[in-house]
Amino acid sequence: MTNLHTARLRLEPFAEAHLDGLHAMNAKPEVMRYISGQPETREQTAAAIARVKRCWAAWGTSWWAFVDPNSGRVVGAGCIQYIRSEADIPADLESLRSNPLEIGWRLHPDFWGQGFASEAALRMAAYAFDELGTAELIAVRNADNAASGRVMDRLGMQYRGVERWYGKLLPTHALSQDDWQRHKAKGI
Ligand SMILES: CC(C)(COP(=O)(O)OP(=O)(O)OC[C@H]1O[C@@H](n2cnc3c(N)ncnc32)[C@H](O)[C@@H]1OP(=O)(O)O)[C@@H](O)C(=O)NCCC(=O)NCCS
Repeated sequence: MTNLHTARLRLEPFAEAHLDGLHAMNAKPEVMRYISGQPETREQTAAAIARVKRCWAAWGTSWWAFVDPNSGRVVGAGCIQYIRSEADIPADLESLRSNPLEIGWRLHPDFWGQGFASEAALRMAAYAFDELGTAELIAVRNADNAASGRVMDRLGMQYRGVERWYGKLLPTHALSQDDWQRHKAKGI
């Protein structure tokens, strides 16, 4: 499991210690509006932490909590993980390894509009390209989720059409290793 750092955040692989902070975020309807449409219960967030720990063990990548190093508060969360075409996660995590890697993010609303998601996204993308050596990253969103689309744009991702992921037809954006190298060279 790999800890990452940015100028303002510590990115920590999900652990039980993040339960209160992750639950405070995932219980907010405005956070889940374009994800599942349903606020998460504490039990669902606890189950997600357990699932993410299994993913880290299987893949060497999954979800991080974004933590403010000064206050210790959970600002948000993000992932580099193997995407799946169906809604349900299969018991055999290895079966997803042939799928593309996905980048994703969410923030507690107290931290919207301050650049935290884009800052963490750059560091997670660097992990995927420079440390995992992936050839491509994709990101998916609800068509109405304009704020997430702007994070994808700032990361240099290109819209490539509607594709079927998580059992739904979703706008899909992609970033190739070449585009990433060009984006980095611009000093962003
Ligand atoms: C998607 C989501 C993470 C985007 O959050 P965000 O705060 O808009 O994104 P960032 O943290 O990158 O902040 C960028 C915004 O802050 C502004 N900003 C202010 N100070 C800034 C700073 N110091 N550095 C960079 N940007 C700053 C930028 O101008 C930008 O605003 P704009 O998008 O209106 O142009 C957030 O809306 C969210 O958590 N939504 C619910 C969960 C969700 O839908 N996740 C995505 C699923 S696909």
